[in-house]
Amino acid sequence: MTNPVALITGASSGMGKAAAIQFNNAGYIVYAGARHLEPMTELEAQGIHIMKLDVTDNASNKAFVDAALENEGRIDVLINNAGYGSMGAIEDVAPAEAKRQFDVNVFGAMNLVQLVLPTMRAQHSGKILNNSSIGGQMYSPLGGWYYASKHALEALSDSLRLEVQDFGIDVIIIEPGGTATNWQKIAADHMLEATPKDSPYRHLVETYASMNMNFNATADDIAHLMFKAATTIHPKTRYQLSWGDRALVIAVRKFSYKSVDRVTRLVMRLAERNLSRNQAPDAPTESSTTDDSQTI
Ligand SMILES: NC(=O)c1ccc[n+]([C@@H]2O[C@H](COP(=O)([O-])OP(=O)(O)OC[C@H]3O[C@@H](n4cnc5c(N)ncnc54)[C@H](OP(=O)(O)O)[C@@H]3O)[C@@H](O)[C@H]2O)c1
Repeated sequence: MTNPVALITGASSGMGKAAAIQFNNAGYIVYAGARHLEPMTELEAQGIHIMKLDVTDNASNKAFVDAALENEGRIDVLINNAGYGSMGAIEDVAPAEAKRQFDVNVFGAMNLVQLVLPTMRAQHSGKILNNSSIGGQMYSPLGGWYYASKHALEALSDSLRLEVQDFGIDVIIIEPGGTATNWQKIAADHMLEATPKDSPYRHLVETYASMNMNFNATADDIAHLMFKAATTIHPKTRYQLSWGDRALVIAVRKFSYKSVDRVTRLVMRLAERNLSRNQAPDAPTESSTTDDSQTI
């Protein structure tokens, strides 16, 4: 067999970019797509095929898949990684933005699935990795549309897994927890933009947007997890990076919703108190607050 072929979306930064490098280094022929080409030129220098891709545009998705098929004749791995966090109170996020969140995180990914499936079925092999989040099984305030999109992505992935198993295709959900990428800044910007100055949620939003998240997990860690998931003969349905992330997901499934609500509110209150203490004029100068409490 020739080298396996991997298609990776959202490859201009963070996890997608790291995954493109990791799969390429391992001998895969990689097609990397994102809306911005410039940040992917370093991938091109390593022999990765870069393409302009907007996953909300079905024609763009088709061109991406067709390019790989015309050049390579097969597709072994699709990594639906492109995504962003449309944060803000459900009451405040404009309907058009809420739809866009689903267009990118859900419909874009599923359109790509539809485009690669005929080839994978004909090959009787293929791996589809959908990059969700631990937020695909959890929730917290100010992220309703994002969590809904990731829950939807997971539900679709579960149904899909059962539909395509007999065709030799694996569907795998990746559930990162907080990871150091551009995601946090983009999510905070969206949250502030979505929230009018006179919104009853403004104070909460400003508090959360001002938190500096220092995460230990890196994009490379998640890329490694993706590679492990894609190259395991009998993959799990879901992959989390750390025991902490796994424990959170299990706890949410086991405990009552009321208990989860109570713990979430408590964690939020503690986080807010910690932040206001650090922001007080006479507080010790600390440049950043480490807070892993926000589910992502
Ligand atoms: N970082 C975290 O803490 C975290 C945790 C859990 C889950 N996740 C998920 O992990 C995935 C990767 O995020 P990341 O952390 O690596 O963030 P990131 O650095 O912001 O990367 C997001 C990527 O998605 C691409 N993208 C956004 N909209 C797109 C569109 N319409 N079409 C094509 N590409 C698009 C961006 O590229 P362009 O702007 O160039 O298009 C970028 O390459 C996302 O699905 C995110 O929800 C992240």
